[in-house]
Amino acid sequence: VTALLCLAQATATKTVAVDALPPNLLALPDGFAFGAATAAYQIEGAASEGGRGPSIWDAFSHEKGKTHDGDSGDVADDHYHRYPEDIDLLAKAGIKHYRLSISWSRLMPDGRTLNDEGVAFYSALLDLLVEKNIEPRVTLYHWDLPQALEDEYNGWLSPSIVEDFAAYAEKCFELFGHHVKTWTTFNEPLTFVGGGYGTGVMAPGRCSDRSRCIAGDSETEPLLAAHNVLLAHAHAASRFRARFSKGYSIDMVNCGWMAWPLRDGSVDDMNAASSFMEAQWAWFLDPLVRGDYPPSLKARAPALPQFTIEEQTLLKGSVDMLGVNYYTSRYVAAADAVYPAASVGDAAGIPALNGEYHLATTRSLSEGDPRIGVVGGSPWLYVAPDGLTDVLLWLQDRYHLPMAVTENGCDQPSGEDERDDVWRIDYLRSHIDGVATAIQRGADVQAYYAWSLLDNFEWADGYSKRFGLVFVDYNTLTRTPKRSFAWYARLIHAHASSS
Ligand code: NOJ
Repeated sequence: VTALLCLAQATATKTVAVDALPPNLLALPDGFAFGAATAAYQIEGAASEGGRGPSIWDAFSHEKGKTHDGDSGDVADDHYHRYPEDIDLLAKAGIKHYRLSISWSRLMPDGRTLNDEGVAFYSALLDLLVEKNIEPRVTLYHWDLPQALEDEYNGWLSPSIVEDFAAYAEKCFELFGHHVKTWTTFNEPLTFVGGGYGTGVMAPGRCSDRSRCIAGDSETEPLLAAHNVLLAHAHAASRFRARFSKGYSIDMVNCGWMAWPLRDGSVDDMNAASSFMEAQWAWFLDPLVRGDYPPSLKARAPALPQFTIEEQTLLKGSVDMLGVNYYTSRYVAAADAVYPAASVGDAAGIPALNGEYHLATTRSLSEGDPRIGVVGGSPWLYVAPDGLTDVLLWLQDRYHLPMAVTENGCDQPSGEDERDDVWRIDYLRSHIDGVATAIQRGADVQAYYAWSLLDNFEWADGYSKRFGLVFVDYNTLTRTPKRSFAWYARLIHAHASSS
């Protein structure tokens, strides 16, 4: 009996530890927003219904060999038809903040002409969110450019995109501004210009390697696409501000890692780490906050386009806050470092920014690293919660703006139980604690959105990677909340009832 009691006790203790809430949860201020995030192409499906026009991700995913198993977003989670069920899930978990994106080609199939059915879909979705007391945070561009604009002028490579994007954004503000106060122009430009024009592993799939890609130039095109993205943001933000003021905010969501110098005391590694941070974060944020690219980037990438004085004025101060997507971190060493665990790194597949670094996921070849832990299901996703704290502090120090963690989450290593996802709980707990620590050290962080509400189409990885709090059976489209979903609901409740 004693042995059994001990066993029961041990099991109970283990269960408590596994489901424990972040120890620092109550350091997050009253009113701190907990939410969940998704993106249109990853969940909506109904790719040729409701008058939707094709996007570059339809074209790319239908091309042979571009995605895992040839997966596409044709059906995805069928959210287009099942959104009431998905909103119910948010409501059940007590999630009062929801980050979603609008599909440009559903709203304007050719990039310019309004589609009434698209308007009706987003109106109904937003009405329902508001009715359920869930606050929407809307992204205008989460990678699904109308194919018509790619065909007409090569999308982000042409300055023509600036006016088309600004007009689309303005229409969204006009149609949905009564329901939506917090807007994001772009999600992770670093990722989509790197993947779309550097490595070619994302739509539109351009790169210098003609055997794999639509002919492009990996040296210059990512820089040019990013330049047009920044200008498109600036024009959209200026129209936003002409229309809305108090209580409304506009931002861009950026992403990156924390880059720690590999060798303690090495000035070369410190410089390499700092220019790596600037290549990932400041490439976009310096123009948006300060009006121009960081000097380190100008020096390294002579092909970087230049802003005119008028453009600089329009860009400077064009975000009200920073959206921060964070998943992982690395050690960075100067390129001449001889270190067996380091490999030649790249900043998101953008050659013009490469070659000066080595990247590593540990400082020690023999024992565990204190900051970078095990890898998740995706080979890039090493667990490094301190990196989130340090990224938030780095951004606070450089930009002095309020921030929201607009994405954070993980997929699980193979062999882990996907529905009894204690691994994910562990990841979320340590990262939410990481946000609390950043706040205690002076970062102004106001919100945290888990990626993602649902398992969904993980771009080139198709349906092989699952980031959801809710399991989706892709044969039946049945949704089953995972253990992490119940845990997140409990966390939200515990935080709210302490206020
Ligand atoms: C960032 C992207 O915004 C999102 O679309 C993607 O699914 C997650 N990271 C996970 O890789």
